[in-house]
Amino acid sequence: MMKTILTGDRPTGCLHLGHYIGSLENRINMQHDFNTFIMVANVQALTDYYDRPELIKSQIFQVVEDYLAVGIDPDKSTIFVQSSVKPLFEMTVYFLNLVSLARAQQNPTIKDEIKQRGFKESIPCGFLCYPISQAADITAFLADLVPVGKDQLPMIEQTNEIVDKFNSLYRCDVLKRCEAVLSSNSRLIGIDGKNKASKSLKNAIFLNDNDQDLKDKIFSMYTDPAHIKVSDPGNVSENVVFKYLDAFYHDVSHLNDLKAHYSKGGLGDVYLKNLLFDVLKTFLEPIRERRSRINQTDIIEIISEGNKKASLIANNTLQKMQQVMCLV
Ligand code: TRP
Repeated sequence: MMKTILTGDRPTGCLHLGHYIGSLENRINMQHDFNTFIMVANVQALTDYYDRPELIKSQIFQVVEDYLAVGIDPDKSTIFVQSSVKPLFEMTVYFLNLVSLARAQQNPTIKDEIKQRGFKESIPCGFLCYPISQAADITAFLADLVPVGKDQLPMIEQTNEIVDKFNSLYRCDVLKRCEAVLSSNSRLIGIDGKNKASKSLKNAIFLNDNDQDLKDKIFSMYTDPAHIKVSDPGNVSENVVFKYLDAFYHDVSHLNDLKAHYSKGGLGDVYLKNLLFDVLKTFLEPIRERRSRINQTDIIEIISEGNKKASLIANNTLQKMQQVMCLV
């Protein structure tokens, strides 16, 4: 039996190189060997943006277009929109009984996010409970594997607690435990060199940037402030241009030579930035080519098929839950 993968993204903006390195690349490779579900988490996105629903709506197509452009194959991966799969929300309600308020507040990612957002005493319940809804997303498909970033590990742990509690309480094996799959790539730094690449910090290179944006962003990258003259020895380890070359330039021996040359002195930033521009342009080429062939009608069709398939499976799990919960 093929194992099942479930993963998702909040539709809060275009996807960028950080998403590619952190998760998209993994999904593209895994879709051939796993039964893959990819969810556009628009309901979860509302936990943050409930006051800007039109923003979330407008980004759903963008995210699906990005998926298709990078090479997610809709014949291999089921792409669906969370709000269209109703069983997820009924499951969430049942799961809410299985988690104490104290436990919900202990989730370290949630704790960090509460601090970041400055909720203080007025934390929206929906926000505090989104990991519980995420447990429904995962378990509805009886997912074995969940490819996610490190920050999502507490969500997987909470999901497995819910699975264990549900199965033991209702003496069944309806729900399945899951495992996180972490990408072996390290997180991509933003072009500012300070934070991880992120849409909100405006420090990311997007998969749909044109050449001019690409060039401007690369030439604004922080290199080494002490590398003033070309002949000065330069710092490689903190250099953003080298970090991007590490992630995207596969001629490792040339890259090592460049690093040695740069450290010794005599290699200019402009040379490196032009090289990175060429490397990223080559990387983006097939993505741009695929994107140019995608049209709106195809996206609508892919989402609609995905929603149907996802609803069928989620409904199947929900019915089994209802049986052991004496609801039918
Ligand atoms: N929380 C995830 C994120 O912010 C998105 C998400 C929602 C998700 N439901 C999921 C990821 C289920 C994996 C599995 O990136």
